[in-house]
Amino acid sequence: MFKVNEDYLKLPGSYLFSTIGKKVAAYSAVNPDKSIIRLGIGDVTQPLAPTIIDALHGAVDEMAHAETFHGYAPDLGYEFLRTAMAKNDYQDRGCDIKADEIFISDGAKGDSGNIQEIFAKDNKIAVCDPVYPVYVDTNVMAGRTGTYDPKTETWSDVIYMPCTKETNFAPELPKETPDIIYLCFPNNPTGSTITKEQLQEWVDYANKVGAVIIYDAAYEAYISEDDVPHTIYECEGARTCAIELRSFSKNAGFTGVRLGATVIPKDIKQGDVMLHSLWARRHGTKYNGAPYIVQKAGEAVYSEAGKVQLKEQVAYYMNNAKVIYEGLKSAGYNVSGGVNAPYIWLQTPDKMTSWEFFDYLLENANVVGTPGSGFGPSGEGYFRLTAFGSYENTVAAIERIKAL
Ligand code: MLT
Repeated sequence: MFKVNEDYLKLPGSYLFSTIGKKVAAYSAVNPDKSIIRLGIGDVTQPLAPTIIDALHGAVDEMAHAETFHGYAPDLGYEFLRTAMAKNDYQDRGCDIKADEIFISDGAKGDSGNIQEIFAKDNKIAVCDPVYPVYVDTNVMAGRTGTYDPKTETWSDVIYMPCTKETNFAPELPKETPDIIYLCFPNNPTGSTITKEQLQEWVDYANKVGAVIIYDAAYEAYISEDDVPHTIYECEGARTCAIELRSFSKNAGFTGVRLGATVIPKDIKQGDVMLHSLWARRHGTKYNGAPYIVQKAGEAVYSEAGKVQLKEQVAYYMNNAKVIYEGLKSAGYNVSGGVNAPYIWLQTPDKMTSWEFFDYLLENANVVGTPGSGFGPSGEGYFRLTAFGSYENTVAAIERIKAL
């Protein structure tokens, strides 16, 4: 008789965004006449930039001819894309990352969930609280997190680093020493950032205690301030302790196209064993590469025209962020984020819990957001709105919230 992986049974409820989806669908079914504005999941709404569409069309046409047809992609991804990333995302910023340290994938969500596989089960993870749920849930599935306490909504073997108003939504170095540290800046969900000096402290700490930092840089394109690092490799010593996750979803609108990358410098080692080799082995065994067509679209992100068009797209979303931030502030809400990130983090009014505010907003303004508690216990009493809607919907949503 087969046995299921019991670690899956430890997971409380369903995935955050599935729960929200179900709640909204149930409300819609009973209220079919209501026009609902979705500012919940961080999914983009603007069409792909023209240069990217051209690259996709061109690659599709190549697939129609034997001479230019492409089958399986190389294990680590096509050289043309890895070289473009190494140059634009790293070398042009003075960071020492080579093309063969970049692994192309079909997105940062999968990589952020899968990366834990190359570490021993008894590694202790540290996460920010609140946090993107994938980091914790995938470690639960792997049996690394101990037991769940429904009262505190925490796992016994996870180190939580509260990111609250008191800490300016930044984590502090943990008292207990972790083996793996998940950091995401600009942050999902709080929209906060840390400076290069602050990130340097984390790199120094990781090198000192022998930990690995898994740095999720998915929102890098939204940075507007100078002292905010675009990659962890701007910090000295990051080559020996940091893995970086990159996404094409938010900077180029690839949520439905799927493309991402993981950077593993060859200097992260335990004895003679490079983490790079383990991930290469995993990639080779379990993955057949992002489609050629999509990797060609990814290459177009780094073309001159692509850069200009995507800058405009990011500016469009950041204008929405401003509409949300300023609108809520003028309505008396406590808000943060939205300056270097497409997320606005607000305190729920009248001591409502995050889920109470979710229901209140859905029912009274027909606006969907994300309850802060869904990202961890320190998110209770907070709520996240995304700037990824259309401008018109964003303005309408804020008008509705102000009218409450
Ligand atoms: C979010 O809403 O937090 C993001 O869309 C999640 C993701 O990028 O997978």
